[in-house]
Amino acid sequence: MAFDIDMIKKVYSEVAERVDAAREITGKPLTLAEKILYSHLWDGKAEKAFTRGKDYVDFAPDRVACQDATAQMALLQFMHAGKPKVAVPTTVHCDHLIQAKVGAEADLKRANENSNEVFDFLESVSNKYGIGFWKPGAGIIHQVVLENYAFPGGMMIGTDSHTVNAGGLGMVAIGVGGADAVDVMAGMPWELKFPKLIGVKLTGKLSGWTAPKDVILKVADILTVKGGTGAIIEYFGEGATSMSCTGKGTICNMGAEVGATTSTFGYDESMDRYLRATDRADVADAANKVKEYLTADPEVYANPEQYFDQVIEINLSELEPHLNGPFTPDLATPISKMSEVAKENDWPLNVEVGLIGSCTNSSYEDISRAASLAQQVSDKKLKTKSKFTITPGSEQVRYTIERDGYIDTFDKIGATVFANACGPCIGMWDRYGDNAADGPRNTIVHSFNRNFAKRADGNPNTLAFVGSPELVTAIAISGRLDFNPLTDTLINEEGEEVRLDEPRGYELPPEGFAVEDAGYIAPLEDGTGVEIKVSSDSERLQLLEPFDPWDGKNITGAKLLLKAYGKCTTDHISMAGPWLRFRGHLDNISNNCFIGAVNAFNKQTNFVKNQLNGEYGGVPDVQRVYKAEGIPTVVVGDHNYGEGSSREHAAMEPRHLGVRAVIVKSFARIHETNLKKQGMLGLTFDNENDYDLIQEDDTFNFIDLNEFAPDKPLHIEVVHADGSKDTIKVNHTYNAQQIEWFKAGSALNLIKRQNA
Ligand code: F3S
Repeated sequence: MAFDIDMIKKVYSEVAERVDAAREITGKPLTLAEKILYSHLWDGKAEKAFTRGKDYVDFAPDRVACQDATAQMALLQFMHAGKPKVAVPTTVHCDHLIQAKVGAEADLKRANENSNEVFDFLESVSNKYGIGFWKPGAGIIHQVVLENYAFPGGMMIGTDSHTVNAGGLGMVAIGVGGADAVDVMAGMPWELKFPKLIGVKLTGKLSGWTAPKDVILKVADILTVKGGTGAIIEYFGEGATSMSCTGKGTICNMGAEVGATTSTFGYDESMDRYLRATDRADVADAANKVKEYLTADPEVYANPEQYFDQVIEINLSELEPHLNGPFTPDLATPISKMSEVAKENDWPLNVEVGLIGSCTNSSYEDISRAASLAQQVSDKKLKTKSKFTITPGSEQVRYTIERDGYIDTFDKIGATVFANACGPCIGMWDRYGDNAADGPRNTIVHSFNRNFAKRADGNPNTLAFVGSPELVTAIAISGRLDFNPLTDTLINEEGEEVRLDEPRGYELPPEGFAVEDAGYIAPLEDGTGVEIKVSSDSERLQLLEPFDPWDGKNITGAKLLLKAYGKCTTDHISMAGPWLRFRGHLDNISNNCFIGAVNAFNKQTNFVKNQLNGEYGGVPDVQRVYKAEGIPTVVVGDHNYGEGSSREHAAMEPRHLGVRAVIVKSFARIHETNLKKQGMLGLTFDNENDYDLIQEDDTFNFIDLNEFAPDKPLHIEVVHADGSKDTIKVNHTYNAQQIEWFKAGSALNLIKRQNA
């Protein structure tokens, strides 16, 4: 059921020839990332060397994975492509639509009742088109992929930004929008700008309280949320090989938080062990036969400065546990400094909830190490001060940790075990009922990956800090953000001073993994007879209408809809949480368009001026007025616009509502591509300071859009309320093909036309 060994063997049978050809053509030793990229070229063997950070290259990924929130739109789009079956192995995972509230069983039951229409839709589309289906409760996409599908040297794409998690098993795995997934499922090449390469040399060895999570928290500190943009991060060195495969997965997972295209590790014994433990000895055997092609050439790691665009070195023996946050994953504080830093910033020291698990950190190793601390609560007569929750990454992990007594251990400290699903990590956490927006100022710590405002519980006043599962557990036991388990003691129920012993665990279950029902449903061999039903009055699903093609004229008279101030992530553009239920209904979900973005003119969210009547209103409402009047609009933003996730809704919603162009200081890669796929104009200010020229009542007239061409800046006349004008120069990264998408109205319009 799980993996396609024939596909993997085919990849390995070609890897030597393809890598050797790439080495010859580039005239240099190759990094692992380059080996994987060059061995997955759409056209086969390399015929030219690509320039990193510049050339757009067509690739042939081996797999596609979709989660339920993004799969709805991806599959709705795929249905439009006119194909009988997916062209590459594809899976759908139901994990995002399960709200955490009471505990696994009740929450799963409620999700199955509330979202059965969507789950049924996904299951029937999967059945029809040859897609493997993981039902609700089976697990979180990235954990399930790591356990079943990831393989060293492979390339996959997934409709979720943490697809990069599979780098822990030596893949190049990249998060994309649904539109990219549709290309690959439809048998088309997948295009990516050839990434730059960042090498991270790990010396020393992790020990004591320090965990793989701390490596990536430190990398986030060094690179910041945009430092990895457009790059693949490749980890190497003795510190890398001494780490577990799942620990590598955690590090790669959070590579998304530094904006990296993906992250990866060379094949080593930890991966061999993990493959065998997860019932894939045949993949390990096949990988061992070509292992020199599944890691970089030795010269690369001996002289990394020569072969990577940037090199970072971290000594794991000296690395301290970190907590990153609040509100951004790159604000790193070593635990020894937390007491001082928290007081300086007036962060609430009382920790309300500690949450472990998620796709980032729910390996057997993570859970067993955290459980070793939970066990000390009764051993040392302590009482856990914070609430505590566990979100297992898969049914296989959950079943195994239950068998091995860890769930019992957590139960004893009053923990709630949530369903094997995303839950609190994506805002699907019913913590406050309907009162999340006015929730109290409070602190939580979790082992997830993101901590943007409102991400976990919808409360803008929750300060969320990210740490390793072991540190989160220790902090939850103490109830204090400033508790440093390396040096601090706790007072137990008997008034004695006790210290927590260092966490201990197992890389892999000593008794092996076990599961009764993993939750997988294989598709029919021939699904042509499967009927897919979407009710016309459904509020969750809506069949798509194609976007209008470009009329070939300059866009003129466009009004400014929103000038976004500061961070404008995909969460700000298309908020998650309760809105996830409308992911398959473009018109309904468009009612969340930009409601989280801050208006630069009044610093408020969802409060913009309607230039037609001077009144202020919510962004979607104001935009719908412009749409009804047939008036195009423009959105302006700051740096790294669209960072965060791969959700193409953040591009489709503005497009659906009639926004024509987004002009920013810089884009996050996935979102920029998503805008292009949906036929939007994603442009950057040539002079960043022009952002300051934009006024609330501005009107935009494109001057030379009718000459839209690769590498050619565009010019826009900006007319201010007093009649004065500025002409601004804007840049773009559209190649010839992407300009065709714009002209056709969307990439999908073009695919359909080509299939006709
Ligand atoms: Fe889900 Fe959070 Fe991972 S939303 S896929 S658990 S990043």
